[in-house]
Amino acid sequence: METSLAEQPVFDRHLRTPRIHPTAFVEEGVTIGDGSSIWDTVHIRHHASIGEECIVGEKTYIAYDVKIGNRVKINAFVYICAAVTIEDGVMISAGTVFTNDRFPRATTPDLKTLRSSDPDEETLPTLVREGATIGAHCTIGNDLEIGRFAMIGMGALVTKSVPDFHLAIGVPARSVGYVCRCGKVLAMIAQLNPETASLACEACGLEYAHDHGTITELAPHFVDQE
Ligand SMILES: CC(C)(COP(=O)(O)OP(=O)(O)OC[C@H]1O[C@@H](n2cnc3c(N)ncnc32)[C@H](O)[C@@H]1OP(=O)(O)O)[C@@H](O)C(=O)NCCC(=O)NCCS
Ligand SMILES: [Zn+2]
Repeated sequence: METSLAEQPVFDRHLRTPRIHPTAFVEEGVTIGDGSSIWDTVHIRHHASIGEECIVGEKTYIAYDVKIGNRVKINAFVYICAAVTIEDGVMISAGTVFTNDRFPRATTPDLKTLRSSDPDEETLPTLVREGATIGAHCTIGNDLEIGRFAMIGMGALVTKSVPDFHLAIGVPARSVGYVCRCGKVLAMIAQLNPETASLACEACGLEYAHDHGTITELAPHFVDQE
């Protein structure tokens, strides 16, 4: 007997074929990896690609040609425009909006012709690196990168690139601390001696080098426990 999406567990890694809610609108040429779930009234534009074991929450919009890696969690009401690339293991919380045009206009200067919405030389890219988290209701500018395992606090307005492992908050977003792969705070910048050379996570023990705001993992010490 067939089970409806609602009756299936929220996430079941043994279910390999992608699950697509009947109200989702997936255009032609879209690829969706095994184990991914696409929830109600999601709209995925043509030739976007979504990796394996992703969750795309209800009412999210993903523009054409957007590339999304594996095990990415996208909550409800997220707007992902063209020229955005999202690597593996990223979390994008509810209500987040990406942008790709810095000085947008609807029409030509005489107001007589609607401008095309297709990407052109004014379209600027945004890259969200692996493991990063974007908190709820953020606005993400363009021509920038959110670094590996960076964390953006809820309600932030990101106008500049955020380095790897940085915690950035506010409007406009500024780095206030450093976070571990596991998500816990390693140190707050205001409390940290700038000469400190190493940091260890109190929650999981992972260790990092610190060099005046640059955080690097001391060794490839992350072991996949599966
Ligand atoms: C940024 C964040 C990680 C900080 O968490 P925290 O270290 O526990 O912070 P605290 O709650 O102790 O707050 C510390 C200070 O930062 C402020 N603050 C906390 N989050 C903030 C945010 N997102 N933006 C601006 N200021 C924030 C607090 O008001 C407090 O200020 P104060 O010292 O002047 O009183 C967290 O608040 C956050 O935004 N997480 C993302 C949550 C989210 O979007 N989840 C989505 C999935 S449910
Ligand atoms: Zn940790």
